[in-house]
Amino acid sequence: MKVIAGRASEMLASRVAEAFGCDLALTEFKLFPDGELYTRIVDDVASEEVLIVQSTLTDTDFICLLQLIDACVVADSISVVIPYFGYARQDKRFKAGEGVTARALARTIEADRVFTINIHNPGVMKYFTSSARDLNAAAVIGDYIDGLNLTDPLVIAPDGGAKELAASVAAGGELDWDWLRKKRISDDEVVIEDRDLAVADRDVIIVDDIISSGGTIIEAANLLKRNGAGNIYAGCIHGVFVRNALLRLKKAKISPFSTDTIETITSSVSVAGLIRDALL
Ligand code: R5P
Repeated sequence: MKVIAGRASEMLASRVAEAFGCDLALTEFKLFPDGELYTRIVDDVASEEVLIVQSTLTDTDFICLLQLIDACVVADSISVVIPYFGYARQDKRFKAGEGVTARALARTIEADRVFTINIHNPGVMKYFTSSARDLNAAAVIGDYIDGLNLTDPLVIAPDGGAKELAASVAAGGELDWDWLRKKRISDDEVVIEDRDLAVADRDVIIVDDIISSGGTIIEAANLLKRNGAGNIYAGCIHGVFVRNALLRLKKAKISPFSTDTIETITSSVSVAGLIRDALL
């Protein structure tokens, strides 16, 4: 098998190749003067089993994924891992006149099998036209937390949507977990319902699938601090971190960590092993 790295997932793809003990194909990317993306797989993939790894954080990343799939038309089989599937939050028609963007994008992926990781809404998986499976990286986050040596840790979901994730993250280390109620006011403003929490002097790990503006985590952390929490960590699968999100988290004395589905400075844990285990 040959692993093909998309431009957004070069480190993760190399870790996946290492985990499989197989070849990492050489790829190259550049932008044409008009901004269009040029993508090329330098190594020969004819009659190979290929595994393309590419997150689609930006529109150009998505184009890159389509280009790689098309370049592999000469391969024997194509498996695609989309560690972070962008637009998954546009998973329904919220207002008349909108398209379901997640569906529109999923339908364009032509491969033998597709894998995503903690896609925002697993309901989107049915839109892929080939066999598609969403992998759960909760245990990867749980193992990382176990290694942090925390004081009486408590795992918190900042909203109802993250409840299942918090429960699975906590399960491995048999940690306590709880959840908060969130109301979204605008794209980057949320309110977390006030309540009493038994967190005095305990280290707390807020876990969410995505950290984007950081607003959700910061609001949850404010509530935890009012209740006397010790150190506050924010763990996510996908560290999107738009604008100055990382700076705002740091200023709020929150320690962020994420997986390498999106490669950032906070990617302390890798999903390479999870991908290997799923594909074996
Ligand atoms: C929303 O439902 C997601 O699970 C996250 O809670 C959300 O994307 C986080 O966004 P932000 O960091 O902008 O508050």
